[in-house]
Amino acid sequence: MSRDRCGPERPTRDAGGRSGLIARRGSKFREMTISSRAESFDMAAAQYAASRPGYPPAVFDAVEQIAGRRLAGARAADVGAGTGIATAALRDRGAEVIAVEPGAAMAGECRKALPGVPVVRGDGNALPLAGATCDLITYAQSWQWTDPARSVPEALRVLRPAGALAVWWNTTAFDVPWIRAQHERIAGCCEAKPPSAARPDDGDAIRLAGLTGLRVTRRRLPWARVVDLDTHLANLGSRSAFLVLEEARRNTFFAEERRLLRQAFPSGEIQESYVVDLLVAVRP
Ligand SMILES: C[S@@+](CC[C@H](N)C(=O)[O-])C[C@H]1O[C@@H](n2cnc3c(N)ncnc32)[C@H](O)[C@@H]1O
Repeated sequence: MSRDRCGPERPTRDAGGRSGLIARRGSKFREMTISSRAESFDMAAAQYAASRPGYPPAVFDAVEQIAGRRLAGARAADVGAGTGIATAALRDRGAEVIAVEPGAAMAGECRKALPGVPVVRGDGNALPLAGATCDLITYAQSWQWTDPARSVPEALRVLRPAGALAVWWNTTAFDVPWIRAQHERIAGCCEAKPPSAARPDDGDAIRLAGLTGLRVTRRRLPWARVVDLDTHLANLGSRSAFLVLEEARRNTFFAEERRLLRQAFPSGEIQESYVVDLLVAVRP
């Protein structure tokens, strides 16, 4: 699973559920808190909008199936909406969606991309939404930046009875050899633990997400996209672990990565493989 420290934005939590660190303890990098990484996206909002992958239709099919209702006509809040990737998909399925995003630049990109969609600045730990107003709350790659001790009660407050909280991540397909090798290089660059191909079982996934005690269903959904080399590298570079990395180290990594990938993919086309890890909690 890609929820490693230097991969996609999924910091570890310590035993107390507090913030994780991106660098190994004792490494020469300063320790980064969840907060500094969570806020880092605003530095690269346009790059994020241009290069990040979306989510396959199967994610939204699964949300409908588990939630037991169609997205068409549902009142939805997409929280940590970023540039609006999941927001757009929800709108295209007919949901009446509002985007909630703390970052000014990310919210700006979202407004630009989705002119008809309301975008409000706000945070999952204190949702700027009235109680019992939503059928669905989604967090696409953003739940990990919240504190579940606050964001779970907030979601339950805002959801209507039988409403659903859906959280998901595009996790890395470590079974693909070049992807695994690349993430070992990333771990080296960030002085993080090498990636583990082991995926948490359902119980661990629910516990790690802070959703213990709720009625949760999990789905894992593999998919892939083909992009050019520049898009692939921009996607990697828009991850929080790189956004907070020292510039010289980041530039060295990306120059070498470009060289290696040009050799491995002379056509210039790269297939990025993902497994969406989806958790849906239905409110009683
Ligand atoms: C990896 S991006 C995901 C953006 C978008 N949902 C997507 O699918 O591309 C994570 C987003 O979470 C936002 N974020 C950070 N802290 C947050 C919090 N406490 N509550 C809600 N969103 C937060 C960031 O500003 C950023 O836009």
